[in-house]
Amino acid sequence: MKGVVLAGGLGTRMYPLTKITNKHLLPVYDKPMIYYPLQTLINAGIKDILIVTGGNYAGDFLRLLGNGHEFGLKHINYTYQEGEGGIAAALSLAEFFADKDKTCVILGDNVIEKNIRKAVETFDRQKAGAKIMIKEVPDPQRFGVPVLEGDKIVKIEEKPKAPKSPYAVTGIYLYDNTVFDIVKALRPSDRGELEITDVNNAYIERGQLTWEVLDGWWTDAGTFESLLRANQLVAESGANKMD
Ligand code: DAU
Repeated sequence: MKGVVLAGGLGTRMYPLTKITNKHLLPVYDKPMIYYPLQTLINAGIKDILIVTGGNYAGDFLRLLGNGHEFGLKHINYTYQEGEGGIAAALSLAEFFADKDKTCVILGDNVIEKNIRKAVETFDRQKAGAKIMIKEVPDPQRFGVPVLEGDKIVKIEEKPKAPKSPYAVTGIYLYDNTVFDIVKALRPSDRGELEITDVNNAYIERGQLTWEVLDGWWTDAGTFESLLRANQLVAESGANKMD
């Protein structure tokens, strides 16, 4: 399985922290933010990894990570997203890299406590479709929120004012290679972005979306509050140990 870290976008929500660097290079406790999603993929056994970066200071990713020797990798692939067309637009840049393989996608601002290896292995055996990881949160309105009927996700709503479940769709997505055809058929949302939630809803319509509840804590780090929380969680739990 291939791995993709999406670290594009302009990080405007975090201004002025992102005035002279990229959001994913900001510190989370004792490491730059991008280290965490990268290590999550590696811990899951994924070695063939593409980083989609963007905005200003994209060259700093190369200076920081190089070919990934510090992570035990032989090589890291990089590509560049122009502008801020949305998560699905960033993912579309991985089509050539993914080739015919399945892909594990992780958002560059997602930090987790535990290992996702089991979910990755289960998805490896899934014939077709996609798998998402969900997590109960106190503020689901900030995220993609699954609508559940029994144990079936019938729909995902992006940042709903009145969430229909207490879960967030985390930024860890497992896709077969038809994901790129789905992205090509997307239309921009009201906020002008190609939404990853629309991709996941397309899999639901095909009856091909499976899901799991993510083990351990999860947070994004893309707002001032969640960045602080990520720092605290990493510091307190020792999840900064890159093993
Ligand atoms: O963190 C999980 C949430 O991430 C999901 O629950 C939501 O369904 C999903 O839409 C997303 O919501 P956010 O509003 O938090 O996404 P944000 O725009 O902050 O982007 C998150 C990461 O995605 C960012 O750190 C880098 C990547 N990204 C984002 C955009 C808009 C890109 O690579 N390119 C982009 O154009």
